Amino acid sequence: MEDLSNYRKSYEKSELLETTIPDDPINLFNLWFYETEDLGGKEEVNAMTVSTIGLDGFPKSRVVLLKKFNEEGFVFFTNYDSEKGKAILNNPNVCLSFFWHEMERQIIIKGTAQKTSAIFSDNYFNSRPDGSKLGAIVSEQSAVISSRTVLDEKLCELERYYEGKEIPRPDNWGGFIVSPVEVEFWQGRPNRLHDRIRYTLQEDFNWKIERLSS
Ligand SMILES: Cc1cc2nc3c(=O)[nH]c(=O)nc-3n(C[C@H](O)[C@H](O)[C@H](O)COP(=O)(O)O)c2cc1C
Repeated sequence: MEDLSNYRKSYEKSELLETTIPDDPINLFNLWFYETEDLGGKEEVNAMTVSTIGLDGFPKSRVVLLKKFNEEGFVFFTNYDSEKGKAILNNPNVCLSFFWHEMERQIIIKGTAQKTSAIFSDNYFNSRPDGSKLGAIVSEQSAVISSRTVLDEKLCELERYYEGKEIPRPDNWGGFIVSPVEVEFWQGRPNRLHDRIRYTLQEDFNWKIERLSS
């Protein structure tokens, strides 16, 4: 067995105290997001892992890009017919997670996903470069294909077809918005005694704040 027990790190960069956090997890997410970007200089700070429960009953995780967030939720864009798309339409309970190692921080968000409106998806789709728009049309995301050539040839065909024309958003491509019900913030601390603060959405739409043991 490969021995990785020497991979050790003491987490010492920050702390997370009940006395200094906002009442709302979106505000804390916002604060941590821009701190990571400003101080850590992380590329793709908006890369997050989204976990779904598949039609086969197994959880599956993959990275997508967070494109928008506010009090209502966290938005990413994808193909609705992909494995994750089908999983979400069957079971909207998902988990999003971020690991920002520059700041020794992790955020885990449980929530329910639903499709964004067509207009919302159109607006984002229309802001993308043409290459990305065509990519969304070309790829039957998650389908088995015989070779790479299938994608390259289809792209060439569509580039010719759409030259000088507006590229429409395919119906099976758009956003999902994840409305959070629980958000956990994890700050690494020395001696493995990390700070964990969990926000849970209450029936009155206020957030309950609790500290969890590391
Ligand atoms: C950094 C990074 C960003 C990605 N961003 C997206 C994204 O925003 N949307 C998306 O559908 N897939 C994105 N992917 C690809 C997904 O990880 C995944 O391969 C794809 O969505 C198919 O997943 P599925 O078959 O589980 O549905 C990204 C991958 C990486 C590594």
